[in-house]
Amino acid sequence: MHHEQATSLYAFIRQLTTAVSTALLYSLDHEQVQRLCTGAAQNLALALGDEPGLSLLVIDDELVAWDRPVETSMYVNRFCQALKMRGIGHLRLLREVTPQELRQMVRLLSKPPLPNDEIRSSEHIRFGRVEVRQSEDSSGASAEDAGRRKIRSLADVPLEELSTFMEIYEEARGNKKLNVSGISEIVGCFINAFKQVADPILALAPLRALDEYTFTHSTNVCILNLAQAMSLGIDGALLHDIGIAAMLHDIGKLYVPEEILTKPGKLDDSEWDMIKQHPLRGAQRLLDTPGVPRLAVITAYEHHLKYNLTGYPRVQEGWQQNLCSLMTTISDVFDALRTKRAYRESMEFATISAIMQDLSGTDLHPLLTRNFLQIISRLSDAVSSASPEPDTSTPPLSTPEQGTP
Ligand SMILES: [Fe+2]
Ligand SMILES: [Fe+2]
Repeated sequence: MHHEQATSLYAFIRQLTTAVSTALLYSLDHEQVQRLCTGAAQNLALALGDEPGLSLLVIDDELVAWDRPVETSMYVNRFCQALKMRGIGHLRLLREVTPQELRQMVRLLSKPPLPNDEIRSSEHIRFGRVEVRQSEDSSGASAEDAGRRKIRSLADVPLEELSTFMEIYEEARGNKKLNVSGISEIVGCFINAFKQVADPILALAPLRALDEYTFTHSTNVCILNLAQAMSLGIDGALLHDIGIAAMLHDIGKLYVPEEILTKPGKLDDSEWDMIKQHPLRGAQRLLDTPGVPRLAVITAYEHHLKYNLTGYPRVQEGWQQNLCSLMTTISDVFDALRTKRAYRESMEFATISAIMQDLSGTDLHPLLTRNFLQIISRLSDAVSSASPEPDTSTPPLSTPEQGTP
């Protein structure tokens, strides 16, 4: 971000936050609120320059714009808190935002947050809300018991859906039609299952038992992506597309011979070239398939690009990676590391976490990695407290990801 952009964004946040305090102290109709909203709209337009819109993410207690944390200040902190209290983790502001729309936002941020309050996006302000999950348990059992009970019911969902996914995959391998609506249904099922548990990341635990299928890697990446996206407050159609993109990210591997994918030793140059083709082949296949979200095409193409734009395929300088691709790369690396390979055992969470921290900033997006590792540390705690056995009993065996470190 340029210095002027940052200054204008900062002025936007300051004016908006001051408008919220003014509305709280006086009223929403106070002329000062109107003036501040007009000024904020102007500053937002300045911050955007030629860009059509700006996404703001609340990660931890930090506000992220243009992939970078916004320098903290009292106003930025207040703004973050106000969003967080209402479960808003993602905010998309379009160029055409009007002072009236900002005034609606001020109204929202100056009202006390209520758990079931509907947060409506307007034409040019789109909110991504973190689901407010309430315990449905009324029997007096502890939250932990309730969580475990729901895990059991959740575990049935992937089993049933996975066999459908296996059929879809096998059909696609036979160069037949790719059943996009089937995949979309599976993703919908995962999302629903996620929303039923108190902590969606707990849904990952039962998947360990299902790792005998080669396509499980895609399912794991899907669930890890959904967990990342939901933690950022992404919901609705975008969340669904992110799940579909993850399910299909490695579809290009259907064109790589099985012997190469599972080869235990080192790959020779021509074999390695074939592996490197899978993002492009996958993106082409998806582009030719009706009903595939564009995001899935982009993600298939970009998922082996590193944060510093090395990796493959080669892209020009200044290439802007999609948020979904950045998340998929993180989920992909994690799943590859925790998967048992012909040449090594699966790794412990602590080891994986250390490796991923090392890759952060070069291979992986730093803020998204930090967010991911926080999710995973909760998973690690949940797994160790939920199962009495050490988690070496059933090492996962899924599609080897030869291209990842
Ligand atoms: Fe891949
Ligand atoms: Fe992959």
